[in-house]
Amino acid sequence: MAKREIKAALLGLGTVGSGVYKLVHMQEPEMESKLGSTLQIKKVLVRNLEKAASKVEDPSVLTNSWQEILDDPEIELVIEVMGGIEPAGTYIRQALSSGRHVVTANKDLIAEQGLELTRLAQENEVDLLFEAAVAGGIPIIDPLKNSLSANHITEIMGIVNGTTNFILTKMTEEGMDFGPALEMAQQLGYAEADPTADVEGLDAGRKVAIMATLAFHTPVTFRDVYTEGISSISSKDIASASEIGRKIKLIGVAKETSGGVEVRVHPMMIPAEHPLANVSGSFNAVFVHGDAVDDVMFYGRGAGEMPTASAIMGDVFAAAKTLTRGMKGSTMDPCYRNLPIKKPEDMVSRYYLRMSVDDKPGVLATLASVLGNNGVSIQQLVQKVRKEDSAEIMLVTDLVKEYHLKDALLTFRAMSIVRSEPVVIRVL
Ligand code: NAP
Ligand code: HSE
Repeated sequence: MAKREIKAALLGLGTVGSGVYKLVHMQEPEMESKLGSTLQIKKVLVRNLEKAASKVEDPSVLTNSWQEILDDPEIELVIEVMGGIEPAGTYIRQALSSGRHVVTANKDLIAEQGLELTRLAQENEVDLLFEAAVAGGIPIIDPLKNSLSANHITEIMGIVNGTTNFILTKMTEEGMDFGPALEMAQQLGYAEADPTADVEGLDAGRKVAIMATLAFHTPVTFRDVYTEGISSISSKDIASASEIGRKIKLIGVAKETSGGVEVRVHPMMIPAEHPLANVSGSFNAVFVHGDAVDDVMFYGRGAGEMPTASAIMGDVFAAAKTLTRGMKGSTMDPCYRNLPIKKPEDMVSRYYLRMSVDDKPGVLATLASVLGNNGVSIQQLVQKVRKEDSAEIMLVTDLVKEYHLKDALLTFRAMSIVRSEPVVIRVL
């Protein structure tokens, strides 16, 4: 039988695209045994041809014309690792509509238009695969779609951004400042093109939306996710966390509750002995709770060239096998429910507050009564630094609905005895 050669186009040759290109070549000797066919990257789309020339064996594969790829009838598979909503969204829609399988790492796009694109893939009987869009090299999308599909999943919680976990680890373990730690994460290829998406929790929010949609079979987009980032976390808060036996991590949560789907990303002080507290550097970890399986934890590198290329290539191999067997794609719309999304104000947490206040008699009693009047009970209160006529206080509340805490904070902001904007971090 004639050897089948699958021809693919790679859109993007940055951190992830270069990793994919390398891994295709590394896997070449085993490709036929694994897939029953070989795989050739026939075209690579970039903006700057000159910059990309040294990254490929044969620069004639490079193009800056998407139309050239779309018009090539030999290309059966499109691997999108450019990032951003547009033009990536248009290219993916055109690829799916013209019967190509698509593999993408693009969480920005999947978290906004994933359902629409999935339906388009289903209509055209092709695959749309996006394992690399969540938690880099960790297999989590396929388990949610397949291995755990016999479960009613009620909770997902984890660390799903490598850049912020790297920064927090450097700040906690080496006392490094935020800026230099972010620069290192950028140099190592962990950060997004605009790292604001990482440090402000948007990237993790997109991943939470994607996982929640698959886990709860209900449409959840990035706009539904409450997000807070790590840019205001200071060494003082890291030290306070340590004093109460905790570490600060950027945590993503997706929960099915009686009040609807709760989806959020924010920094959290978690007990030092909690398994997520010891997930360091660019590693990510995701807990999933299902009614049959109980708890499962997925752990691995959440960002970077080769771990992300590994996730992409797993999907590429799956699509290539479908093509080799002459089968149609098996994309299915995951959403058969339409649960409401819970408002952030209704979510319940314990909180750490740090603020600078007047150092005079009665101040602590006044603050305590504001909290008490809003139904916020104090678990722990410590006066930290005293300087001239001010003092810094740190307190931890009991569990409270967010809107009660917000009311108390509004009152604090209007009080002259409160000298600084309170720093607020959730506590597990
Ligand atoms: P990157 O290093 O910035 O690379 C982007 C590549 O896409 C570059 O080669 C760029 O070409 C090309 N490109 C961008 N816009 C283009 C356009 N309009 N037309 C043609 N080419 C275009 O990004 P990356 O870190 O590899 O990330 C790529 C995707 O993977 C993103 O969706 C990201 O969220 C996702 N992802 C990244 C990681 C990671 O660890 N980095 C992990 C998981 C998922 P030029 O250089 O010529 O502009
Ligand atoms: N910027 C992302 C991160 C890449 O740091 O996790 C992986 O999705």
